[in-house]
Amino acid sequence: MQVLHSKTELAEQIAEWRHHGDHVALVPTMGNLHKGHVALVDLAREHAEHVVVSVFVNPTQFGEGEDYDKYPRTLERDTRRLKGKADLIFAPDVDTMYPFGIKMATTVSVPGLTENFCGASRPGHFDGVTTVVARLFAIVQPDVAVFGQKDYQQQLVIRHMVEDMNLPIDMITGETVREEDGLAMSSRNSYLSEEERAIAPLLHETLTATGRELQNGRRNFENLEAEADSRLAGGGFDVDYFSIRRAANLEIPDRDCDEIVVLAAARLGTTRLIDNIVVTI
Ligand code: PAJ
Repeated sequence: MQVLHSKTELAEQIAEWRHHGDHVALVPTMGNLHKGHVALVDLAREHAEHVVVSVFVNPTQFGEGEDYDKYPRTLERDTRRLKGKADLIFAPDVDTMYPFGIKMATTVSVPGLTENFCGASRPGHFDGVTTVVARLFAIVQPDVAVFGQKDYQQQLVIRHMVEDMNLPIDMITGETVREEDGLAMSSRNSYLSEEERAIAPLLHETLTATGRELQNGRRNFENLEAEADSRLAGGGFDVDYFSIRRAANLEIPDRDCDEIVVLAAARLGTTRLIDNIVVTI
């Protein structure tokens, strides 16, 4: 497995693969890889002869006061984790991704879908995500790109960008990989204290409890959301949002909608956790 930092070296390798008629899958990450990321790499492998994993902590998607500086950078360990799984790790530095600097960077922005949920609590976050993912797509030119359901709104926003810009990329979404107690794996889980870590699974428990209620026929979405809010607050979470929405576009569902996503973000101390489940009702 190669680890490349330069765009030209990467382009050369990709051109060689293409010359042989092979397909390329891209799994964008910010590193500090866990089993959730590795599952996406395994999924990517099912769809292309070559798998590229990008590892780049993208400054433009972090807001002021967020954890850009302390975000764990563990390229050596990530490289060991991906041996035999990926063909290439692309680990550019900030100047490589933003040659004109961050302030002068051409920005890609998806309106609408980015306004609520994580977009409301993290202003500018999704512009940073779409800006960097568009760059990665332009550099790697993958046939297939794999994202996680864990970041439900993110994969929807990127799907929208791909469709809207007519990018010839097949978007694949991989299931959320969880710890045994249900907590969705996340690089940010390492910020939790022992006490917070013990509380954290309540987020997934509350999502699945709401999912069960929906499957049992309850349709008063606002009441269900309020019940979940107070259950989480009672457990020690500071709830950012807990919402029952249309899986296709995050709009408020009517009673006949059958594909629902229940999505939530909540803080434990200074750590913000997000999770979601999709239910067919
Ligand atoms: P990062 O948080 O490193 O996540 C990389 C990919 O892994 C995303 O598609 C995310 O949804 C997925 N992922 C994270 N936790 C997962 C889990 N428990 N199970 C399955 N998949 C999981 O998301 C980003 O990086 C960045 O925003 C990025 C898209 C790379 C742009 O900078």
